Amino acid sequence: MTAATAPHALPLLGHAGQLWRRPLPFMRELAATEGLVTLRLGPYRAYLACGAAATLQVLHEPRVFDKGGPLFEKARLLVGNGLVSSDFITHRRQRLLLQPAFHAHRLPGYQQLMAGQLDAALDGWRPGQVLDLGHELHALTLRVAARTMFGSGLDERAVAEVVGAMPVIMRGVYQRMILPVEWAHRLPLPANRRFERARATMHRVIRETVQAYRRAGRDHGDVLSILVGARDEHGAALSGQEIHDQVMTLLIGATEPPGDALTWVFLLLAGHPEAERRVQAEADAVLGGRPATALAAADLPRLAHTRRVVTEALRRYPPAWLLSRTATADTELAGQRIPRGSTVLFSPYQCQHDPRAFPEPTRFDPDRWLDPSPAARAAWLPFGAGNRQCIGDELAMTELVLAVTAVAARYRLCPAPGAAPRPLARASLGAEGALMTVERRTPRPPRAAALRSTAAA
Ligand code: HEM
Repeated sequence: MTAATAPHALPLLGHAGQLWRRPLPFMRELAATEGLVTLRLGPYRAYLACGAAATLQVLHEPRVFDKGGPLFEKARLLVGNGLVSSDFITHRRQRLLLQPAFHAHRLPGYQQLMAGQLDAALDGWRPGQVLDLGHELHALTLRVAARTMFGSGLDERAVAEVVGAMPVIMRGVYQRMILPVEWAHRLPLPANRRFERARATMHRVIRETVQAYRRAGRDHGDVLSILVGARDEHGAALSGQEIHDQVMTLLIGATEPPGDALTWVFLLLAGHPEAERRVQAEADAVLGGRPATALAAADLPRLAHTRRVVTEALRRYPPAWLLSRTATADTELAGQRIPRGSTVLFSPYQCQHDPRAFPEPTRFDPDRWLDPSPAARAAWLPFGAGNRQCIGDELAMTELVLAVTAVAARYRLCPAPGAAPRPLARASLGAEGALMTVERRTPRPPRAAALRSTAAA
């Protein structure tokens, strides 16, 4: 039996047109599908694993469904052979080396660093100011990432360079993945030149930062110190290139998805006043007018509604909305034979809009996480699953909950007049046109806020 071809294929382009122009509606049209469908991407054929069962099979058979293949090579343009892109064998060694940096006992330390960056950024916001939210929050997550990875941080020039380069890269990598036609991306077109320039900027910033860091020559107690000091079971250190690729991987992983996720949280809150009011009540109860640095790890469980808001935002708009693998052997997936070398795509967005797991899937409803069904738990995959599950998942959840709380304690973000934010699904699922006006709010007294928060729960 061969997998059915998905609807809306165009001559020559195949489904690349859908994936470029209307990727989210296209995925929602497939949301109730289970098993495999075939997609055509220009001259290439790929399978899309639909539904949680097929997706989890891909994720839990990492030897058979490994990273690699022609689409994946495009991601390597950016992150080389770092943790997110390495193949099964290399990945095992790399993950063992990196895991200590993400151990639970390090979280409170990172939380303090994050809170410091948050307070500093929020001090700079002014009532009435209009923010380009996506830009502002990516700059914020980049500063947080830089601070947790290279204790000394990045200088302001480097932050501006990276924040400017990242959207160009995300767009270019995605374009190359959905239409993997080599010659088209070598043409001397302005878009191709912009992409190469942005890539060179990123590589230079990382190189200079690692060099400066090495010159300082001491243990900073951060992620880069762990990378520089890491030894495998044979006592071998990571090479310069390996360190470069891991730093690039971590910097992008810790900036793009959390920046996009935060943007969506605030856009969704702006459209759902009751959910927003409960977030504010929790922030007031826990922070009570104090800065975010006052928040201890023990306070996080008191931000349960805020965590549900983040969970639901990651369901509606998972930054990693489309991912890929290659079949390393002839195999069977969701009951269908597929040949070695096949490209297999899967989409957390598609799984997370399956109406059987999430009734009224396009409704933003944080309370669906009060008592989620097993189907909902299985289909919630914003961080992936299995051996390639996001290494920074808990760090990211902490960062998101902390950032939402810190903002909600001091400000409201309201859509600016005439703003028309809309999803932008590229290598990560962000939003464009998210212009928001900053309004200052006065925290309610902790006691009253705590009572209201409890009543609302
Ligand atoms: C909202 C925030 C985040 C989301 C939605 C997210 C999502 C993901 C997903 C879906 C994967 C699996 C990719 C696959 O299976 O092909 C992944 C892997 C990864 N993420 Fe994240 N991520 C987030 C934050 C972070 C942060 C904060 C870091 C680093 C500090 C990070 C670093 C990584 C790395 C290194 C991998 C590769 C893991 C491996 O293959 O072993 N991510 N992420």
